[in-house]
Amino acid sequence: MSKLSALDLTGSFVRYNVLLAHYTTWGVGGIAETFFTPCDKDELSAAVGWARENAEDFFVLGGGSNVLISDQVIRTPVILTTGISGISARVSGDEVFLDCMAGTRLKDVLSLSVRNGWSGLECAAGIPGTVGGAIAGNAGNLSGSVGQTVLRIATIEADGSLMEWNGREINWGYRRCPLFEEDRRIAYKVTFALRVLEKDHVAGVMKTVMSGRKTQPISSRTAGCVFKNPTGDSAGRLLDASGCKGMTVGGARVSEAHANFIENFGNCTALDILSLAASCRERVWEKFGATLDFEIKTLGIPAGAPDAQG
Ligand code: EPU
Repeated sequence: MSKLSALDLTGSFVRYNVLLAHYTTWGVGGIAETFFTPCDKDELSAAVGWARENAEDFFVLGGGSNVLISDQVIRTPVILTTGISGISARVSGDEVFLDCMAGTRLKDVLSLSVRNGWSGLECAAGIPGTVGGAIAGNAGNLSGSVGQTVLRIATIEADGSLMEWNGREINWGYRRCPLFEEDRRIAYKVTFALRVLEKDHVAGVMKTVMSGRKTQPISSRTAGCVFKNPTGDSAGRLLDASGCKGMTVGGARVSEAHANFIENFGNCTALDILSLAASCRERVWEKFGATLDFEIKTLGIPAGAPDAQG
């Protein structure tokens, strides 16, 4: 296939020069030159195919709740998955198998589960974003993460082929899924295997999980926890004990409620967030000799930026 210029690609599932700030919970992000909004597997496949022929890479955007996107023009093609959504369920004895399209909101999966007494994803209660984003980052809480309930993942590979992966053979890590680190691929469907339990029991567990989030600034514009917890400790605790709460750069502020959250309290830029994160890391390093790594995913953050570790 010969190289196409961006404008050779037409159709309702591709748009040009789209402001990404509208698609991130932080409300920051520059203009994407090429922005795909596929609504089914074929459109998703076409987007991946175009990226394969015309770009070195592509970036998958789900709910935008765990990403920091540069303020600059983004040349990497962005594929928004939220148009590919829906859940189907099959109950077999005391098990239920949920086929979730990758762009399905996690909260929709959770509310269906709690209504029916389906257990296994309670650890994800209160987590924003999509199913695809949740599995790519193995989202969860201190008691568990979504990877433990994944039976299958259907993907489109960089070469356009379709693959199915056995979730139980994946070496899930803390906030990571190696499947999406090794090669360029994109999930389009995830099958969760849950257990059918008493509705009250599942609702009770979810309530407890939600109460564990009471210390978090859920009504502010944030991207959840900025840093991963270092082994055996909490990034929030270290940041708090290093005096980071309330620190600001431009319109970005370290939350007074939980130090591992950065709030956009006044039209901040990605650079404000990066600079603030860099100061926080430095403080924790100076006080505790501990290195904090980003939990958030980044796009377009060049090497040499204030905190370009991601
Ligand atoms: N702490 C402080 N100051 C703070 C924040 C926390 O002293 O500003 C202390 C707490 O008092 C507690 C300990 O640190 O003793 C742990 O805090 P918390 O229970 O809030 O848990 P966390 O380790 O900070 C993790 C996940 C959260 C998840 C919560 C609840 C990570 C990086 N964070 O936070 O996940 O919601 O547990 O289960 O794994 C996310 O991934 O985006 C996220 C928010």
